[in-house]
Amino acid sequence: MKLWAGRFQKETDTLVNDFNSSIGFDARLYKQDIRGSIAHASMLGSQGIIEPYEAERIVEGLQAILKEIEGDQVEFSLDNEDIHMNIEALLTKRVGDTGKRLHTARSRNDQVATDFRLYVKEEIPVVTGQLLELQKVLVKKARANLDTVMPGYTHLQRAQPTTFGHYMMAYANMLRRDITRLEDCLERMDECPLGAGALATSTYPVDRLATAQALGFAKPVDNSMDAVSDRDYAIELLSALSILMMHLSRFSEEIILWCSWEFQYVELDDAYSTGSSIMPQKKNPDVAELVRGKTGRVYGSLITLLTLMKGLPLAYNKDMQEDKEPVFDAFDTVELCIPVFTAMLDTLTVKGKNMLRAASGGFINATDCADYLVKKGMPFREAYMIVGRLVNMCIKTGESLDTLTLKDFRAISGLFDEDVYDALQLKTCVNGRRVYGGPSEESVLKQVGLIEDFIAARSGAAGEA
Ligand code: ARG
Repeated sequence: MKLWAGRFQKETDTLVNDFNSSIGFDARLYKQDIRGSIAHASMLGSQGIIEPYEAERIVEGLQAILKEIEGDQVEFSLDNEDIHMNIEALLTKRVGDTGKRLHTARSRNDQVATDFRLYVKEEIPVVTGQLLELQKVLVKKARANLDTVMPGYTHLQRAQPTTFGHYMMAYANMLRRDITRLEDCLERMDECPLGAGALATSTYPVDRLATAQALGFAKPVDNSMDAVSDRDYAIELLSALSILMMHLSRFSEEIILWCSWEFQYVELDDAYSTGSSIMPQKKNPDVAELVRGKTGRVYGSLITLLTLMKGLPLAYNKDMQEDKEPVFDAFDTVELCIPVFTAMLDTLTVKGKNMLRAASGGFINATDCADYLVKKGMPFREAYMIVGRLVNMCIKTGESLDTLTLKDFRAISGLFDEDVYDALQLKTCVNGRRVYGGPSEESVLKQVGLIEDFIAARSGAAGEA
């Protein structure tokens, strides 16, 4: 018999029974559900809403059920609809009528809202922890490649010289924002819905401060209707995870390009690439491609939840039962992607010679050539024009700026001198950019320091990173 059968004269249709049931996926919340129920029962006991000895029996019963679930000794039933009713039924079976007092001053609406927040709160640090590991690898790669010159691109056309170290720190900075976005989300959602009841609290003297504190929340949610009806924190989470996946997807795309035969900037470790069933020569970047591909699932989860919520009147609606799977899937996907991506990056080989060759061939130092003239007193626009003419000339003759003779240079401007060759050296171009945030060794080392401080502040052991 259903917990709520009192008002009904017919059995639930079996189709509806299955349709309505969420135990197939919300069983994942068993730990949070039991934690929430223990906090609630203890509060009921200390407020005198139920007898303290009853609270104690309930708590002991719930602890025993937790052990049984963890020992795989429990089978949940579809008839009990969701994790909340399943556990309540197990409790009543175990401790008898006392179990029926647990749901005093509570609704599944504040119960599920509490469970879900507890779950998200526990899972966010797992993701940020993984991201910190990825940042450590980025910092390691950056330190090892401070002078690995490579082309920087705009429009995927070679634009200005930079280094692989500078490149890695660009991603390390994106990840820093991804981490702080998740931390912000965690801080904002750190409020407990328990005690909100169905929507309007209850007439019992429940102590919401006590349950919030027992469950490790900063405070109770201020408004009980808000407490049971919003899922904005889950949307914010999915948005932060989507942005994070967007970053990983771009990075994956770069790695896919870089290990193509056309670029050959990096080589993936054999353990982190795969072969083809037909083409013996193939070494494929499947890990990076899957990370790029799985990004779509996480975006999908965000859109699912945004759409789910947009038309719902306050307060609880059953539609909201659909909030869990997208969040579970997003966490699963992200937590699967980050460690394998980290390991792939950690083990890839950087082919500095190929990067340098790609940076040398073209006219990647054209801006520096113009800057050279500017330093000799020419206005930038004029210098830009002159170097444009030089580039045009080189394209016709098949040369590059650094292979022109001084005579060629001087034919276009008398300001050119012997020292132009040094100015055009790629290392000079890179290390001349000592500006805050730039690619010079000195600038990149500063960026490395900032990220190392960021990591150290989160690992508790200063300087450990
Ligand atoms: N399984 C439900 C959910 O996930 C629990 C809340 C049900 N509340 C209700 N009034 N039907 O949302």
